[in-house]
Amino acid sequence: IPLGAARLLVTLAVLAEPPRIAGGRPLTAHSGDTAALPCRARGSPAPSISWLLPNGTRLSRSAAGSGRAGVRPDGTLLIRAVSVYDRGLYTCLAENPAGTDSLAVKLQVVAAPPTVLEEKRQSVAGTAGDSLELPCTVRGKPEPSVHWVLPDGTAVRPLQTVRPGVLVFPNGTLLLGGAAPSDSGSYECIATSSTGSDRRVVSLAVRSRDTLPKIASASQELTRLNFGERLLLNCTAMDGNPPPDISWMLPNGTWFPSSGTLTIYNPEGHHAGRYRCAARNQVGYIEKLLLLELAQKPNILTRPAGLVKGVSGETPGNQRAGLLGCRSPSSCVLIFSTFLK
Ligand SMILES: *[C@@H]1O[C@H](CO)[C@@H](O)[C@H](O)[C@H]1NC(C)=O
Ligand SMILES: *[C@@H]1O[C@H](CO)[C@@H](O)[C@H](O)[C@H]1NC(C)=O
Ligand SMILES: *[C@@H]1O[C@H](CO)[C@@H](O)[C@H](O)[C@H]1NC(C)=O
Ligand SMILES: *[C@@H]1O[C@H](CO)[C@@H](O)[C@H](O)[C@H]1NC(C)=O
Repeated sequence: IPLGAARLLVTLAVLAEPPRIAGGRPLTAHSGDTAALPCRARGSPAPSISWLLPNGTRLSRSAAGSGRAGVRPDGTLLIRAVSVYDRGLYTCLAENPAGTDSLAVKLQVVAAPPTVLEEKRQSVAGTAGDSLELPCTVRGKPEPSVHWVLPDGTAVRPLQTVRPGVLVFPNGTLLLGGAAPSDSGSYECIATSSTGSDRRVVSLAVRSRDTLPKIASASQELTRLNFGERLLLNCTAMDGNPPPDISWMLPNGTWFPSSGTLTIYNPEGHHAGRYRCAARNQVGYIEKLLLLELAQKPNILTRPAGLVKGVSGETPGNQRAGLLGCRSPSSCVLIFSTFLK
């Protein structure tokens, strides 16, 4: 006996939606930066995202980001420290059971070669004891590294200690603490990256502190010269900073500039007298007095009228025995014996 049949019709609606990726614009990144390539996909169930790299590698979120590239949970592809070799087409793939969508994103990588912002050639003057800062600010993508080369060829990197008093700050500035004249020379700042290099040269002149001129050596204060001898008056080796100008004053009052030795080839009577050797700089003036006595060729001005008795060490009476070998008070040489015969 047929009992009959019952039927139940069930309609199962599976609400599935294939993935759809939104947007997608070309992307430009600076060399050295991290490039982020977004990929936002909709779909139901939520699509899984993976990327196809220009070199054929396929990266998905599950893949442990061992290299420079990785996929973030939101599907964004991150490439660290991009270089021009990372340029190309990156394809984002979104998949779910209902289908697949893909989007190609073009990545452009531009490089900025290193540049030093300060003057390429600069002269810097300092005074002994000063602390001097020589700046070197660098720009570029990828970020350039900076180092200085000291006059003796030593390279110094930021925060490196190569010798006391010399330090390079992280911003590239070179600090010379307590500069000395021996620190004078050429300092070179070099910025380098994978895309090139740039440099600047600072010529540093450190002078000693200003000091008064000093006459370090000179002829003795009194020079006696015989007739016909060549006169050499010395006033050399002047100290002082800045180096002083040296000049001589002759007995007749004339000044003339000279360095060191004063030479007179045939001194005559009028050359005897006071000589002044003077040294002058911005700080001050100093002089030294030198006296020249000259024994001159005897010159008989008057002859004795008769016999003149002369005793050694005494003036020969009131005889008119004016035997003058001098025309200047400082150069009188009287040789009595010659005339008192
Ligand atoms: C492809 O490029 C990625 C990212 O630069 C890198 O990690 C991977 O090793 C490369 N694969 C091959 C086969 O060159
Ligand atoms: C660099 O850093 C030092 C120390 O912080 C500072 O004294 C100097 O002014 C800086 N220079 C520049 C050019 O930024
Ligand atoms: C001056 O120096 C010269 C050479 O240095 C020397 O021959 C001369 O004797 C010196 N003169 C005096 C007066 O010291
Ligand atoms: C002083 O003496 C020098 C050297 O003998 C000479 O050249 C100059 O003309 C003289 N000056 C005067 C004012 O006599």
